[in-house]
Amino acid sequence: MYNKFRKIACGGALAEIFARSVVDNRKPGRSKRPFLQLLAIVALALCGHVADARTPLPDVPDNFCKISQDDVLPPDNRALLSSAPPHADLACAFLERAEKMFLWVTSPYGGDSYVFRSPAFFDASPADSGRRDLAIADATNSNLKNLHVTIAIEPGEADGKVLVTRDCRLVYYLMQVNDVYAYFLTGVKNGIMQDTEFPTGKTLVNGKTDLDMIVDLAREHDKVELEDGKALAVELKSAWVEVAESEKMNFITMKRTIPTYDNPVPCSSTSTSTSWYPNGSREALLGLVGMHVVFSAEGHPEMLWATFEHIDNTPNQDYRYFEPSGHPQTQKSDIADHWMFSDGNPGATFNEARMHFDKSGNIVADGNTPVGPSNIRRNAPWGALGVEADLNTKIISINSQFIGRLADNDVRKNYIMIGTSWTCATGDCSGGGDPGDVHKRQGSEQLANTTMETFYNKGASTCFECHHGPNMLGDHCKKAGLSHLFGALQPLFGRDSRGECTQAN
Ligand code: HEC
Repeated sequence: MYNKFRKIACGGALAEIFARSVVDNRKPGRSKRPFLQLLAIVALALCGHVADARTPLPDVPDNFCKISQDDVLPPDNRALLSSAPPHADLACAFLERAEKMFLWVTSPYGGDSYVFRSPAFFDASPADSGRRDLAIADATNSNLKNLHVTIAIEPGEADGKVLVTRDCRLVYYLMQVNDVYAYFLTGVKNGIMQDTEFPTGKTLVNGKTDLDMIVDLAREHDKVELEDGKALAVELKSAWVEVAESEKMNFITMKRTIPTYDNPVPCSSTSTSTSWYPNGSREALLGLVGMHVVFSAEGHPEMLWATFEHIDNTPNQDYRYFEPSGHPQTQKSDIADHWMFSDGNPGATFNEARMHFDKSGNIVADGNTPVGPSNIRRNAPWGALGVEADLNTKIISINSQFIGRLADNDVRKNYIMIGTSWTCATGDCSGGGDPGDVHKRQGSEQLANTTMETFYNKGASTCFECHHGPNMLGDHCKKAGLSHLFGALQPLFGRDSRGECTQAN
């Protein structure tokens, strides 16, 4: 009953905001702004609880991937395999490392921030004619104040499709790299470092490791100390939705300027709008719904590709796992009442895109159906198509153990690792290689994040389908190669010795 009331009230309030913002656009008047902002807050407060379902973590045998007691963050990625106990299950070592990297980047920094918003990270700008720039995430604490610009945060997935929550909140994306990645890129592009793969802690010249050379470059050129250099090269892509103050305790949050759209009455059954045009921007409180955490490690220049999601996002498809007695069990699809991205209708057509982001920045319906929400399901629940009970059980076990160690009020209890992918080029997996070779791929084979690769191949894709070599860095000026940022990002100083990017990618 309450839910029904909430839905109606929420729909009404949202409709009100959008109806009024249209009026507001026609007759711009400053005096209306506070009222509109108040309405936005009321609507979000009512709509902010559309999700009352959470991804369950079933009980599993306790000998699957026992995590180490070492809680030093960041972990030392120069020692990935050498620090794993002898005869340890390698998959467990890789999965545990990925979870620790997520916990590191989302650890508190300063009063109300996180490591991924600290001076150790840079934001990447949207592509402009194939070129992207770096900006510091935290200007107040950085030596590089000249690099401070606000990077736009935009809707639009890698394939250009646009995702909204069931109550029509847009999903925005942010891409970032850490300081090791940024100085490595600067060294390579200026011809100071001759390296053809991401740093792994290997010895390069004169007994110096790749990391030593990166640390020296930052120190000598900018008087910057790479305090967490042992994390090696890190890249992040994250997905965000606007949240109400009352929802803040459920999310990792940040304040950010978002683009606004001329979107009359979204989500209303009477809405016929097939395109939303950008009409300005405003500051908003955003909540993290998904995060890719990708990092290089000892012997693994192809990097470990991990992804994390909020537990309220989407229902899982059926999957297999081992129950505590060791017997295989099927976890039935947990389609429940209200998910952030699914309305609980088991008969829905899942993961079908309805709109895309066009070159002029408009959000346009793919067909004649008005812009609005789709029903999303996680088709490969733990980065696999459901039948790999062993790997599923390992990932569930790692999630449960780490979540169990967090304090009760730690918001990271609301985030789960979906899976991690890497490659093994040698039998003992002491080295990785180009993930373009499907035989080398290890770990999660169908890894996708329902907030970032939602529609591509109906949500049944995998990172390495789009992120692979033969270039083990990234193709110059193109959205291709292993990292889709490396080729397009401009160095922190100096210039790209391979020439400026001029063509659109
Ligand atoms: C459909 C192709 C596709 C798939 C599948 C895909 N990505 Fe990407 N990814 C891209 C593109 C293209 C970009 C560049 C930015 C953009 O246009 O969104 C990107 C950017 C990124 C970035 C920013 C740094 C970089 O390397 O460019 C990260 C990190 C990332 N993806 C991680 C992942 C992970 C982890 C997965 C699997 C869970 C994944 N991606 C699956 C296409 C893809």
